[in-house]
Amino acid sequence: MGARQAIRRWWSQFWDDVKSSTDAGLLAVPRFLGLLYGPIDTRLPIDQAFRKALGHRLPPHVGWRHALGGIAYLLFILLVVSGVLLAVHYRPSVSEAYPSIQHIVSGVTFGWLVRDLHVWAANLVVLAVLAHMTRVFVDAAHKPPRETTWLAGILLFFVVLAFGATGYLLPWDQWAYWAVTEALHVAEGVPVIGAPLVAVVRGDPFVSGATLSRFFAVHVIVLPWIAFALLVFHFTVIRRHGIAPPKRGAPPAGPGRRFFPNHLLRSLMVAAVVSALVISAAALWPRPLGDPADPTRLPASVRSTWIAVDVSRALAHYVGPWGFAAFSVLGVGLALMPLFDRGPERQLRRRPVVAALGTLFLAGFLAAWLAGRQLRSVPPPATLQHGQPGVALPVSRGDSVGVPGADSLRGTTP
Ligand code: HEM
Repeated sequence: MGARQAIRRWWSQFWDDVKSSTDAGLLAVPRFLGLLYGPIDTRLPIDQAFRKALGHRLPPHVGWRHALGGIAYLLFILLVVSGVLLAVHYRPSVSEAYPSIQHIVSGVTFGWLVRDLHVWAANLVVLAVLAHMTRVFVDAAHKPPRETTWLAGILLFFVVLAFGATGYLLPWDQWAYWAVTEALHVAEGVPVIGAPLVAVVRGDPFVSGATLSRFFAVHVIVLPWIAFALLVFHFTVIRRHGIAPPKRGAPPAGPGRRFFPNHLLRSLMVAAVVSALVISAAALWPRPLGDPADPTRLPASVRSTWIAVDVSRALAHYVGPWGFAAFSVLGVGLALMPLFDRGPERQLRRRPVVAALGTLFLAGFLAAWLAGRQLRSVPPPATLQHGQPGVALPVSRGDSVGVPGADSLRGTTP
C-alpha cells in the first residue's frame, strides 16, 4: 500500500471517528475543572454552558465561506495580543518612539516577530473584512432582520481602518511621518468637514508630538473599547437571528448540523492555515524601518506598508479630494444599504443597482490598492515641506518635533 493511500485511509478513519464522536471526551476537561472548583461550578454552571455551546446547531448550508468572519476575528485577536506585547516596550514620544521600535526589533527576544505579526495582521484583517463583507453582500445576509448586524459590521470596518491609520504613525520614521502628513493634507481638502476635523486630529499646524500622543491614545485606549463593544454587539445579534437562510429554496427544516465537531473543526483548520500564513509572511517579509522622522526634510519616496495608505495615496493622487469624497460617499451609501435594499429578492442578478454599486466600490478599492503600490517611489508633494533643514519650525504645542541624535541613528536602518 502506497504512502498516499495509507494517509488517505488514516484520514478518512480519523474523520469518521470525529464525526461519530460524542462530546463526552471533550467535556472531561470542564468536568475535571468542575471537580477542582466544585463550589464555583455549582454557582456558575460551566459544564452546562459548555455543553450548550457545543450542542448549538447551525443550518446545513453553513460552509467554508461562513468562516470568513471567523478569519477576521482571529486576525483581530492576533492584533490585540501582539499589540499588547508591543506596548510593553514602545514609548510614544518624539524622542523615544523610533529608538523604542529599533529596540523591539533588535534587542527584545522575538520582538521582530511580534512587530511583524502585528503589521501583517493589520493588512490581512482589511482583506479578511472585505472578503467577509462581500460574502454577506452576495448572500444578501444584510436584509431584514439582520440590518443591525450589517451596520455594526460597517462600524467595525471603520474601526479596523482607524486602528491602521493611527498605528501607522507610531514608528515615527520618515515614511510614517510623511504618509500621515500627506493623508491629513488631502483630508483637509475635503469640503466643509475636512479642515476642522484635521485640526483636531493633528493638534498642531503640522504633524508633531501632539499628533503622536493623540494617535497613540486613540490606537491603544479609545479604539479597543469601541471594537470590543461592537464585536459583542455583532456576535449577540448574529446569535439572536441565526445565520441567514440559503438564497435559493425554502429555509432548511430540521435541527441542522452541530457546531461541534463540524463547524468547529472547519474553523480550526482555517485558523491553522491563516496563522501559518501570517507567521510565515512576518518571518519572510519584515516591515523595514525608514530613517527617523525629520519634519524639515521630504523623503525621496514614501514606502507604504499598510494597504489603506496605498489606497488613499492613489485616490489623492489620481482623483483628488473631490474624487476621494465621491468614493467615500459611495462607501457610505453602501454602508447604509440595508436601509433601502429591503425587498425579499436575494439573488444578486435581480438586485442590479446594489450589485453595480458594490462591484464599483470593491473594484475601485482593489484598483486603488494596486495603483497605490506603484506610487511607492513617488515623494510627497513639495508643497508639504515645512521648512529648511536646520531652520526652526513654527512653535509646536506638542513635545519637540525633531529627533535628538537623529543623524547618529541614520544609517542604522535594518
Ligand atoms: C472585525 C470585523 C468583523 C468580524 C470579526 C466579524 C465576525 C463575524 C462572524 C464570526 C460572523 C458569523 C460567521 C460568518 O457569517 O462569517 C459574522 C456574521 C455577519 N457579519 Fe461580520 N464581522 C466583522 C465585520 C463585518 C462587516 C464589515 C460587515 C458588513 C458590513 C459584517 C456583517 C455581518 C453580517 C450581516 C453577518 C450575518 C451573516 C449571516 O447571517 O449569514 N461583519 N461576522
